Amino acid sequence: MKNKNIVWHDHQLNKEERSAMKAQKPCILWFTGLSGSGKSTIANAVEVKLAELKKHTYLLDGDNVRHGLNKDLGFSDTDRVENIRRIGEVSNLFADAGMIVLSAFISPFREDREIVRTLAQEGEFIEVFIDAPLEVCEQRDPKGLYVKARKGEIPDFTGISSPYEVPEKPEIHIKGEPSIEESADIIVNYLHDKNYI
Ligand code: ADX
Repeated sequence: MKNKNIVWHDHQLNKEERSAMKAQKPCILWFTGLSGSGKSTIANAVEVKLAELKKHTYLLDGDNVRHGLNKDLGFSDTDRVENIRRIGEVSNLFADAGMIVLSAFISPFREDREIVRTLAQEGEFIEVFIDAPLEVCEQRDPKGLYVKARKGEIPDFTGISSPYEVPEKPEIHIKGEPSIEESADIIVNYLHDKNYI
């Protein structure tokens, strides 16, 4: 903290009351994986299914957040760390508001994801590893970025010229390329089984 004259305020309405009104237990579904692995697409499908169940959600997405809050950040290691730090804080604020948060960011560094986990309350951080191999993501190349990265036109591209550290113990591991629908069901069933919804 830069300023020492800042005092935390407790408000009258708390997280428990806010989430009780929404009939859900707040949590952060943290989607991590390579570019093109399907994080945003699957998060989107999960959000639609949760809306059908009248659950209150908010989806934070790497490309979108980088258009606004994080438009001052690039893809150097330092900028990625700051990107995830800010998103971790924002995710936590939304969880405090009683929401089910879906955060879809490459978030390539294990340590940064663990920092977000410790920011969140016990049991509220659910790491979802969208485990599509690099070859598959590169073949899909939905934004044409892998082609550019291979030509050396995008520096520090995850999986090509910048590392991705795989999660060691994700709560949910989506692998073997299930369909979008199947992947979303796995995640919604997890929330159901663990009494978040
Ligand atoms: S993160 O590494 O800092 O977590 P984030 O999820 O916000 O990344 O943004 C990733 C998205 O930015 C990718 O899906 C891709 O569309 C785009 N992008 C642009 N440049 C790069 C790059 N050098 N490495 C990875 N993704 C990039």
